[in-house]
Amino acid sequence: MSNPNPLGRKKGLPKSLRVKIISMGDAEVGKSCLIKRYCEKRFVNKYLATIGIDYGVTKLHLRDRELKVNIFDMAGHPFFYEVRNEFYKDTQAAILVYDVTNRTSFESLNSWLQEMRNEIGQPQKIDNVLFFVCANKIDRGNRMVDATEGRLWAESNSFQYFETSAGSGEGVNEMFQALFNSLLDLAENGGRLNPVQVKVGFTKEQADAIVRIKNGRDNYEKLGVHHSATREDINKAYRKLAVLLHPDKNVAPGSEDAFKALVNARTALLRNR
Ligand code: GTP
Ligand code: MG
Repeated sequence: MSNPNPLGRKKGLPKSLRVKIISMGDAEVGKSCLIKRYCEKRFVNKYLATIGIDYGVTKLHLRDRELKVNIFDMAGHPFFYEVRNEFYKDTQAAILVYDVTNRTSFESLNSWLQEMRNEIGQPQKIDNVLFFVCANKIDRGNRMVDATEGRLWAESNSFQYFETSAGSGEGVNEMFQALFNSLLDLAENGGRLNPVQVKVGFTKEQADAIVRIKNGRDNYEKLGVHHSATREDINKAYRKLAVLLHPDKNVAPGSEDAFKALVNARTALLRNR
């Protein structure tokens, strides 16, 4: 933590590296439990809210180097904003956690990013932070955000996406291993994110179209047309979306299903006209 440029330059990269990661996300989504599962291999069912911030260190050996990871586990409750806001700076990686059974916690992810942006101030600094999204509590049955939607949000922001359960342990080691590997890649690249590493093969517009079709409550909403739309309006909306979603042109997760749903919605609407 005391080293202001812990990731150094590629040449002469030290044998031992010190990195800082933080956890972000609404209260009760499982941030502390994910960290505990990885570091202590255990899980506690009882909710013990983090008060302000918890700090821990874990050491590991990776690709011939020693990684000393400082973990700052933030409290998600808005009440602790004043305590956690000073811990955003000098962060190399952040785990952004939401609870798949709580839709609001997924919808809050943008405001967590905004909070970090406000605190860090300089945009170029946040551009070099690695973000790992954890869709947590997948062991629970009552899921409100499916994997496609979570992955779309993450990948359209160029973030990595993992499905995790601090309860069963599923996905947790995989997520941390990938995170540490990416941290080392980042260090070897002089602390700057390699654009090739984070490039995704689809646009935000494509991701938004998939989500709208998946979540549209009826065929009108899916196509984005009014109830009084004519055949021509429907076909026009269909063509626009078909160009965005055609599986030959769209590699985003869920594009194939969304394309099928689009074709069905159009067929159903035209049948009544
Ligand atoms: P704050 O510190 O208040 O921001 O919350 P947090 O995000 O750190 O949540 P915490 O890890 O304390 O977990 C909240 C509650 O969810 C606890 O009761 C945990 O036992 C439970 N929990 C966390 N992860 C999982 C999970 O993967 N599956 C299930 N079933 N419960 C989980
Ligand atoms: Mg906590």
